Amino acid sequence: MSEINIEAAKKNVDRVGFLDVAIDPESDLFEEVKRLKKEKNAVILAHYYQEPDIQDVADYIGDSLGLAQQAEKTNADIIVFAGVHFMAETAKILNPGKKVLLPDLKAGCSLSDSAPPPLFKKFKDEHPGHLVISYINCSAGIKALSDIICTSSNAKKIVDSLPADQKIIFAPDKNLGAYINKQSGRNMVLWNGSCMVHEIFSREKITRLKVRHPGAKVIAHPECEEVVLEMADFIGSTSQLLKFSKNDTATEFIVATEPGILYQMEKNSPEKKFIPAPPDNSCACNECPHMKLNTLEKLYLCLKYELPEITMDEETRLAALKPIRRMMEMSAALGL
Ligand code: 13P
Ligand code: SF4
Repeated sequence: MSEINIEAAKKNVDRVGFLDVAIDPESDLFEEVKRLKKEKNAVILAHYYQEPDIQDVADYIGDSLGLAQQAEKTNADIIVFAGVHFMAETAKILNPGKKVLLPDLKAGCSLSDSAPPPLFKKFKDEHPGHLVISYINCSAGIKALSDIICTSSNAKKIVDSLPADQKIIFAPDKNLGAYINKQSGRNMVLWNGSCMVHEIFSREKITRLKVRHPGAKVIAHPECEEVVLEMADFIGSTSQLLKFSKNDTATEFIVATEPGILYQMEKNSPEKKFIPAPPDNSCACNECPHMKLNTLEKLYLCLKYELPEITMDEETRLAALKPIRRMMEMSAALGL
């Protein structure tokens, strides 16, 4: 299959997380990826936070729910997941017989990392009689301890569909959980996790931007803190934000989520202006450092050499599959 020493390459992947192999700078990576996809019957699923080149080469671009749905129904033999680890892991849980590749194994997620399974198990044991709803941004170990998985596209509807007196633990995102509690009048017990990207937006700097752009609408992801969500004209998952920006009559939007989504927003509505919401730090950038570990070069190498691959023990996979299936069934029943 390759002209590299695959055993040495595997060892290197274990160490650095990706295939560190030189690429001929003259080669057309877009054409090469297209050719390899066809030759290997592979599909590339990419999240909206990926760099534009990856979005352009992907077969499907979407939010966490859309990506999981695509992973469930694909006929491809190989899934290259251009996203973060928990997303590729979800694809593997749904497709044990397929090869699932992630361009950089170190593409993690601060939100997922904020819930270590042993600590969460203890938390769960301290709250007997509670149903556990976990946001998909968590490890397979947390999914295995959950009753239902949700994403930001379906979380509120899934919670609303449960009996009003149902006691619920919501993990790992305290901001999304608090937002649903506020919207639904529930009192779900929240795990204290958050996303490093969505919790750094500055209310003060957004206010300043609004003064300069009085007609702009603020659109925000529900992983943002309450002080930012309070300013939002619309709150939704990445795909819901994209849809809103396309259909709404406003011509300027301040976007409080990872700025990778702006690429599709600008493509869909070239006549509109999209302004990334500024973070509350000295750096002007609010990119997700995990998402941005993937590059077109790493994606090409991972498809070519079929490394790094997501693997998982069967016991964890089967336990994690149950709440994901429940989400898929509930989402289909809710028309999502
Ligand atoms: P969605 O794409 O489901 O809105 O999730 C955003 C996110 O933070 C993914 O890591
Ligand atoms: Fe995780 Fe936040 Fe990055 Fe999404 S944006 S992958 S939730 S750290």
